[in-house]
Amino acid sequence: MTQDLTLIRPDDWHLHLRDGAMLQGVLPETARHFARAIIMPNLVPPVVTGAQAAAYRDRILAALPEGSAFQPLMTLYLTESTDPEDVAAAHASGLVKAVKLYPAGATTNSHGGVRDMDKVMPVLEKMAEIGLPLCVHGEVTTPEVDIFDREAVFIDTVLAPLRRRLPELRVVMEHITTEEGVAYAREGGDTLGATITTHHLILNRNHLLVGGIRPHYYCLPVAKRERHRLALRAAATSGTGRFFLGTDSAPHVDAAKETGCGCAGCFTATNTMPLLAQVFEDDGKLHALEAFTSLNGPAFYGLPVNDTKLRLVRHDTPQTWPEKIYTEAGPVTVFNPGFPVHWAVEA
Ligand code: NCD
Ligand code: ZN
Repeated sequence: MTQDLTLIRPDDWHLHLRDGAMLQGVLPETARHFARAIIMPNLVPPVVTGAQAAAYRDRILAALPEGSAFQPLMTLYLTESTDPEDVAAAHASGLVKAVKLYPAGATTNSHGGVRDMDKVMPVLEKMAEIGLPLCVHGEVTTPEVDIFDREAVFIDTVLAPLRRRLPELRVVMEHITTEEGVAYAREGGDTLGATITTHHLILNRNHLLVGGIRPHYYCLPVAKRERHRLALRAAATSGTGRFFLGTDSAPHVDAAKETGCGCAGCFTATNTMPLLAQVFEDDGKLHALEAFTSLNGPAFYGLPVNDTKLRLVRHDTPQTWPEKIYTEAGPVTVFNPGFPVHWAVEA
């Protein structure tokens, strides 16, 4: 059995860092293991312009622990009034690596998102021209559509028509959660990628709801049936270049999770790498872990792979990590997979 695994240092292709005291508290958790991350722009107010992204990047860099080489890869939050020229300039300067599409109302801080795709076509056409990827939160928000069906309906009614209309646009289906998402991503050609989270490889909807509601397992897109989780596991561990890690680590203080109307988001920055090693080992696919965490993402984004390594070691006894991290904004519960994890990252 493999006891020791050295990987090219991983990247996180979908991460929420927030701002202020929360940023300060959570950033070291990601910077400890990851070289780079695509930083989600759903702040309050959102990161809409190149100038806002530059200022946010400066705040992230200022919050980094001494000596950290972590690089934030910035994104812009797409709105119906986004200026294509501002996006092009932010891309040309090297600042911005993707633009994020949130359908209005789909998730945390998405009320300023897109209602009418026609209104953003000029921006998307410019992005297709310059090769800037669109990261998509792929859920419809129509009230008639059941929350468990939102991803599949989005693919049929929004994503597939968009990609027929603008086939050159590079698209990342963010945090896919269904068999339909896996199938569409597999057949999508070279302009399509898909991120998969750590928690969606572990959770199905029973984990969330059976025996009591577990607010720390509530995220968006919500965890689906077991067959969907198995499809995600097969995709992530396949080594196929289309699929790469985006943790969607999304910190909320416990008071905002453990309440009558709790926020969506699982916080996995602290323990993602040990959890993934366990998941891939359990599926007999440890050899495919590096492709998922360290190779496929850079290839899609056209960036070099990292030149440093990360070492994981398998221990005979189950490993532990802090149950919570204590930020100045309040405590944040670290994702608990509910099974023993024998892997740890070695310094
Ligand atoms: C994210 C957040 O809290 O910002 N929440 C989540 O459940 N994933 C938003 C998102 O990515 O949908
Ligand atoms: Zn997210």
